[in-house]
Amino acid sequence: MNVGIIGIGTVGKEVLSIISCQRVKIEKLLGEEIKIIKICNRTFREEFKNYSFTFDYKEILEDDSIDTIIELMGGKDIPLEIAKKTLLSKKNLITANKELLAIHGNELFQLAKKNGVKIFFEAAVGGGIPILSPLKESLFPNKLKKIRGILNGTANYILTQMSNGSSYERALIDATKKGYAETDPTFDVDGIDTAHKISLLSYLAWGELKEFTEIKINGITKLSTEDIRKAATNNQKYKLLGEAVIDEKTEKITLSIKPTLVGKDDLFYEVNGIYNAVEIEGSYTGKTIFYGEGAGGSTTANAVVSDLYKIINSRSWQI
Ligand SMILES: NC(=O)c1ccc[n+]([C@@H]2O[C@H](COP(=O)([O-])OP(=O)(O)OC[C@H]3O[C@@H](n4cnc5c(N)ncnc54)[C@H](OP(=O)(O)O)[C@@H]3O)[C@@H](O)[C@H]2O)c1
Repeated sequence: MNVGIIGIGTVGKEVLSIISCQRVKIEKLLGEEIKIIKICNRTFREEFKNYSFTFDYKEILEDDSIDTIIELMGGKDIPLEIAKKTLLSKKNLITANKELLAIHGNELFQLAKKNGVKIFFEAAVGGGIPILSPLKESLFPNKLKKIRGILNGTANYILTQMSNGSSYERALIDATKKGYAETDPTFDVDGIDTAHKISLLSYLAWGELKEFTEIKINGITKLSTEDIRKAATNNQKYKLLGEAVIDEKTEKITLSIKPTLVGKDDLFYEVNGIYNAVEIEGSYTGKTIFYGEGAGGSTTANAVVSDLYKIINSRSWQI
C-alpha cells in the first residue's frame, strides 16, 4: 500500500508514530507492506526528516505511485480540492474531516463509486471510538431505529463544569486553557460539529446524507447556570445530544441537535468531561452503547490507521 499523508499536525504525527511503532503487527493484519511515499505539511519540523517531505500537497496528488491519500489538514476548501482530485485520479481517500463529508459527502461518495475507489472516515465521528465500522459492518442486519450521541467533547466538558458550579464563560476559558477547545470554539458550542457527526452516522445507518443547511441545530450557549442548577435539583443534567430517528412508516429521517435533559437512569448521565458516547438502537440488538475519548492525537490516529485495514479488507461503504 503506497500512502501519501497531507497535514502532519496533532493527528497526522500520531499516525506516523503508530505506523512506525506497530508496523510489523499492522502489516501482518493488512497482508501488505505500508510504504509512506510522501508526507506534506505547511511547515517543516525536525521529526519529518526521515520521510520524503513536501510543502505542496499537489505533489502528493500528482504522484502516480501513491494509491491512498490520508487528508488530515482540516478546513474545507483545500480538503475538498484534495478529496476530488484524489478520487478522480482513482486513489483511495482516508479523512478525519467531518465538516468536509457532512457538507460535500454526496458528491464525494458518488465520485468514489464512479471511480471504483474507497473513502473511509472512522476518525471523523467519535475520535477514537470505533463507531462507524460497527454501525456499517456489524449492526447492519438490524432495522436501525435511532441513533443518539454526545459527540462533542468541548461542549460536554463545558456542561460538566457548569453542572459542577462553573459559569459558561469560566468553563470555556478552562476548556481553552486545557487545550480541549479551539481558539474559535463556535462549531463546538453552537452544535455544528455535533451536526456534522450525527449527519454522517445517519448516512451510514440509512444511506441518505441530509442536506446540511436543512438540519436544525441548537448549541449550548443559551443555557444559563440557573437552567443547569434547576436540572440538578431534579437529578438531571443537560447534555448536547445529536439525534437521528427514522419514522418506521414514512422512513423519513429526522436529525436534531440540542441541549437535552437526561436523568440518572440514562447511561449518558455519567458521560462527563471530554468523553463521547453513541447509542444505536436496532430491531435485533436493542440498544448498544459506545463510549470513549472523542478526540486527541493518538486516539484519533488509531481510527485513521484502522481505515488502512478497511481499504484492503472491506467493501466500499458507498454501495
Ligand atoms: N485533533 C483531534 O482530536 C481530532 C479528532 C477528530 C477529528 N479530527 C480532524 O482531523 C483533522 C486534523 O486535525 P488536527 O487536530 O491534527 O489538526 P492540526 O493539529 O491543526 O493539524 C493540521 C496540520 O495540517 C497542516 N496544514 C494546514 N494547511 C495546510 C496546507 N495548505 N498544506 C499543507 N499542510 C497544511 C498544518 O500545518 P502547520 O504545521 O503549519 O500548522 C498542521 O500541521 C481535522 O479535519 C480535524 O477535524 C481531529
